[in-house]
Amino acid sequence: MKYKVVLAVCIVAITTAALAQIKPEDQIKFRQSGYTFMAWNMGKIKNQVVEHPETYNKEQVIAAANVIAAISSSGMGALFSPESATGKGWKETRVKPEFFQQPDEVKKHAMALNKEAKALVQVADSGDIGAIKTQFTKVFDACKGCHDNFRTKD
Ligand code: HEC
Repeated sequence: MKYKVVLAVCIVAITTAALAQIKPEDQIKFRQSGYTFMAWNMGKIKNQVVEHPETYNKEQVIAAANVIAAISSSGMGALFSPESATGKGWKETRVKPEFFQQPDEVKKHAMALNKEAKALVQVADSGDIGAIKTQFTKVFDACKGCHDNFRTKD
C-alpha cells in the first residue's frame, strides 16, 4: 500500500517536472511539428475532396479530420511561453510579438479552430463530399485567421 502511494507521488512529480521544463527551443520545435502535421492532414483532405474527388476515401478523410481535431485540442498554448517568443526550433520562429500581448484574441482563434475541426470530424463521418468541402473551408479559414494576425509572412 505504502509503495503504491510513493510511486503515485513520484509519477505526479515526474510528469509535472517534465511539463514545466520544456525548453523554449523544444516548445518551438513541438509547435512547428504540430502545425506541420495538421497541414499535412489538411492537404490530404484537400486532395481528396477538392482537387481529386475521384480519389476520395472516406476512412482516410475521417482519420485526417481526427488528427486535426486532436492536435488543435491538445493544449498547444503550453508551447508558447514568453521565453519562446524569439528563437529557433526546427527553424526560426514566426510567431509575432502580438501573440503574447493579445492572449484573449489568440484564444478566440484557437477555439474557432477547435470548433470547426470537431465539426469536420462529424461531417467526414457523413461521407457527403460537398458538405466536407464546405466544412474544410471553414477549418482552413480558422487556420488562416490566426496566421493573418499572429504569424509573420514567409
Ligand atoms: C491560434 C493560432 C493558430 C492557429 C489556429 C493555427 N496556427 Fe498555424 N501557426 C501559428 C503560429 C503562431 C505559427 C508559427 C509557429 C512558430 O514558428 O513558432 C504557425 C505556424 C504554422 C505552420 C508552419 C510550421 C513551421 O514548421 O514553420 C504551418 C504549416 C501551420 N501553422 C499550419 C496550420 C494549419 C494547417 C492550421 C489549421 C488546421 C493552423 N496552422 C492553425 C498559429 C496558428
